[in-house]
Amino acid sequence: MMSEQDSFIEKVLIPHEEIQQKVRELGEQITRDYQGKDLRVVGILRGAFIFMADLIRNIKLPLSVDFMSISSYGGNVESSGVVRILKDLDKPITGVDVLIVEDIVDTGLTLKHLLEVLSTRNPASLRVCALLDKKERRLVPDLKIDYVGFEIPNLFVVGYGLDFAEKYRNYPFIFVLRPEYYQPEFTR
Ligand code: XMP
Ligand code: MG
Repeated sequence: MMSEQDSFIEKVLIPHEEIQQKVRELGEQITRDYQGKDLRVVGILRGAFIFMADLIRNIKLPLSVDFMSISSYGGNVESSGVVRILKDLDKPITGVDVLIVEDIVDTGLTLKHLLEVLSTRNPASLRVCALLDKKERRLVPDLKIDYVGFEIPNLFVVGYGLDFAEKYRNYPFIFVLRPEYYQPEFTR
C-alpha cells in the first residue's frame, strides 16, 4: 500500500487534497473562459496525463482531447529547447481553440518551441495550462503561461504524473525523492 510514509520520500511538496482543490479551481476558470468555443485540450505525454485526466473532468464543456509526445534533444535533466516530436497530434488544429496541458515548466525552452510549432498550424487560439511552474529557472523571459497550478522552488519533483527514470508517476501527490534514489542504480 502506498503512503506518504514510504522510505523514498524526502518531502511531500503538495498533498493530494491541495492538488485536487487547485484542479477544481482551474477547471472552473477554464470553463468560464471557453464558453461557446471549440476547445481542444492537448496533453503533453507522458508527464501531463494524470493532471489532464483530472483537469478535463472539471471542465464543464463539450471539449475534445488530443495528445502529443515530445522529447528535447540532449540530456535527460537539462532542456535544450529543441523539441523532437515523438508522436504528433492525431487531428489538425486549424481554427480550433487549443489548450496545451503540461506537467511542469522549468526553463521554458520546451514550451517555447512547442508554441512555435503549433502556432504555424493556425489554431483559433493557443493557450497553456501547467500544473507546476519553476519560475526561478526560467530562461525564456516573456513566456506566458495562461493557467498555473503551483509555483514551486527549484527542486526536482515527482509524483502525480511526473517521473524519475519513468517511476513514481502513480503517486497522487507531488514529492521530492531522497537523494540516494536519484542515483543511477535506482533508475532500473
Ligand atoms: P523546460 O526546461 O524546457 O523543461 O521548461 C520542461 C520539462 O522538463 C522536465 N522537468 C521535470 N520533470 N520533475 C520532473 O519529473 C521536475 O522537477 C522537472 N523539471 C523539469 C519535464 O519533462 C518538463 O516537461
Ligand atoms: Mg520526465
